[in-house]
Amino acid sequence: MKLSREPLVTSARIQGRVAELAAEVSRDYAGREVILVVVLKGGFIFAADLVRRITVPVSVDFIRARSYRGQESAGPIEFQWVCEDGIAGKHVLVLEDILDTGRTAAAILDYLKRHKPATLALCTLLDKPARREVAIVADYVGFTIDNHFVVGYGLDYDQQGRELPDVWILDMA
Ligand code: IMP
Ligand code: MG
Repeated sequence: MKLSREPLVTSARIQGRVAELAAEVSRDYAGREVILVVVLKGGFIFAADLVRRITVPVSVDFIRARSYRGQESAGPIEFQWVCEDGIAGKHVLVLEDILDTGRTAAAILDYLKRHKPATLALCTLLDKPARREVAIVADYVGFTIDNHFVVGYGLDYDQQGRELPDVWILDMA
């Protein structure tokens, strides 16, 4: 795996932005309890950092959605619903690593809506609006980036690179 010479987003910038997002979420959900539904696998590091900075009562659950093989989107999205407790009547905030075409997040939000949460919102660490194929706007966005394939801070290329503290551009050359 060949990476860009410099990180696209450094760990220090990520940590600063995660603190801001956590403050925003804590303010917006004041007086309520929030369920973070983390989209696996890519969202796990973002979730771990964010949850430790949120100051309202929070519980954590997970959902698995797969559509990618390497860099290409491969057909329909498979779901694995791993939320142990129901979400009906609860305040649900979905945590994604990246919004690309938007298909995964749109499908997840549709799916969760059917379980009748009181409120449903979307938070993504990274957003690539240039690649959008379905109309979807996240309620919370960490960083808007250009059309690059990136790895690190939970994001992978064929399961590689998730452990990197910074976000890097994958060098296709
Ligand atoms: P979407 O359905 O096209 O929006 O894709 C969303 C999913 O594709 C994300 O949750 C990621 O798992 C994966 N993905 C999209 N772009 C990237 C990238 O640049 N690096 C790593 N994974 C990506
Ligand atoms: Mg992925």
